Amino acid sequence: MSATAVNKTRRRLLVAATSAVGAVGAGFALVPFVASMNPSARARAAGAPVEADISKIEPGALLRVKWRGKPVWVVHRTPKMLEMLASNDPKLVDPASEVPQQPEYCQNPTRSIKPEYLVAIGICTHLGCSPTYRPEFAPEDLGADWKGGFFCPCHGSRFDLAARVFKGVPAPTNLVIPKHTYLNDTTLLIGEDGTA
Ligand code: FES
Repeated sequence: MSATAVNKTRRRLLVAATSAVGAVGAGFALVPFVASMNPSARARAAGAPVEADISKIEPGALLRVKWRGKPVWVVHRTPKMLEMLASNDPKLVDPASEVPQQPEYCQNPTRSIKPEYLVAIGICTHLGCSPTYRPEFAPEDLGADWKGGFFCPCHGSRFDLAARVFKGVPAPTNLVIPKHTYLNDTTLLIGEDGTA
């Protein structure tokens, strides 16, 4: 073998050896990263409750929070939005929330602990799309009767601002209200309420 050929071979071997060390190094690097997650980060990864700061949600606005990989909506309902809810009742499948799609403490006309805050899982009960928030009154595409709510773009299911499903759409039930509680005036805990 010529001197040049020997040098090339050595260079190739050197590159291969360095890559192997790099790959092993990356493998080891992952373990300390996971082990270094603090207990609350590990618990969160496994679906623990999440806290949400609700102090900055403007009246009428919606905050999206992720819990167990699902979108959870927190809507700051205005007095006008709350006032309109009862007028939807005759058009709803389950106006009194008799199907257990919510914790008992939310089986009330606003489906909430505090009427001004709706907390709901943003997944359509038909086939699992995420409905869009349509808080406006009587928009052209949703019709003169629309008083604000959620519209599922997949197959047209409609829900009011208490996440209750309207009659005549594919979704069979109201949206799910997750367990939740208020830690203080501005902090909501989603996924935990002190019950088993
Ligand atoms: S998934 Fe929402 S209407 Fe079908």
